[in-house]
Amino acid sequence: MTVQYSELIQPERVHGSLYTDPSIFAEELERIWYRTWVCVGHVSEVARPGDYVRKNVAAQDVIMTRSADGEVGLLLNRCAHRGNLVCEDRRGNSSSFRCPYHGWTYRNTGELLGYPYNQGYGGKNKLELGLGRVPRVDIYQGFVFASFAAEGPTLKEHLGAAAGELDRLARLSPEGEVELTAGWLRHRAKANWKLLVENETDGYHPQFVHGSVFSVTGSPIGALYSDKSTAVTRDLGGGHSENDLRPEFRRAARPMGWFGTSEARVPDYVAKMRALHGEQAEEILIEGAPHVMVFPNLFIAEISVFTIQPTAVDETVQNVTAVQLKGAPEMNRRLLSQCVGSVGPAGMLLADDSEMYERNQRGMAARRPEWLDIRRGVGRERIDENGFRIGAANDETGMRGFWAHYRGLMEEGAAQ
Ligand code: FES
Ligand SMILES: [Fe+2]
Repeated sequence: MTVQYSELIQPERVHGSLYTDPSIFAEELERIWYRTWVCVGHVSEVARPGDYVRKNVAAQDVIMTRSADGEVGLLLNRCAHRGNLVCEDRRGNSSSFRCPYHGWTYRNTGELLGYPYNQGYGGKNKLELGLGRVPRVDIYQGFVFASFAAEGPTLKEHLGAAAGELDRLARLSPEGEVELTAGWLRHRAKANWKLLVENETDGYHPQFVHGSVFSVTGSPIGALYSDKSTAVTRDLGGGHSENDLRPEFRRAARPMGWFGTSEARVPDYVAKMRALHGEQAEEILIEGAPHVMVFPNLFIAEISVFTIQPTAVDETVQNVTAVQLKGAPEMNRRLLSQCVGSVGPAGMLLADDSEMYERNQRGMAARRPEWLDIRRGVGRERIDENGFRIGAANDETGMRGFWAHYRGLMEEGAAQ
């Protein structure tokens, strides 16, 4: 039976089967995960020639490598002989990989180097085999993206307005570069990947889900998403969205207020930024980092970077690491400890969110009501000065943008 996505995804509601039906998940892999641009990691993770890290694009295991000539590539972690994983270590440095099963070896650019007892194949260099490669790899602000479609929109076209948010993050570094070198935490949630994406864009839940943490820590975050907040939710197009907290930060006009600190706590960083940016430094220091969901799997929550990796219709791995800013050691220590404090194993934010994703998934085993409501704020949306749709801080504007793009890709995939 063919799924009619236009029936399941409506402007103000989406059908529960989108989160629970294994055949829809299988179609998502083909039409979204193995077609559009998906964030895999960051070039700083493979800084030197020979460096490699194991990554994933949905269920597929890939190896991000840096070749001798400095090129970043993505190899599929599957031996051309009989399919074994050729790379077991999470990270390392090597110019080649050796499959443990029968000892075939490959260069870190994928070419087959050799195979033991080669007479069985008529001698050396007889096989036209090698590791699979992700056909398109592209990089923006150091973030590495993969597309399994040999043709299609470029990364620049895919990112659209979301590119500006990555620029805004990089601008916080005195050297203009983000580094993701703090290591990744991996959280497994028994929930469909779209519940995670929706939650990342949801400004409605913080007051409730994180209320106890905010009250214990005296955090000002809750107020940013309250009904009185001047922050906005912005549909950036292409399925991307942001919770733009800048209006509130500008109102407070406190350099480093976005980071929950003051300039006195990070004097070297602030001085460096002022020396570098002159008058414009105040704006950068006041407005801080973005809170943006880049379709389908890169989420930047100011100080933390997440990549979302679906592994089954009801299971998702969320990888998370701390933003690190090149040339800002004073900031980096704090960024790391804030990140671990909020989304680490004993962190206070992600544990609460994870509970919500999993409860959502369990709740949807019940079949009625069939729909999930996403109409919050429909009646008060407006178009901003740059032509983007915006809603209030706690409206579901970002979610609606996600679903519109999702629907387009799923319908386009059906037509091909
Ligand atoms: S499966 Fe890799 S060498 Fe046989
Ligand atoms: Fe949350």
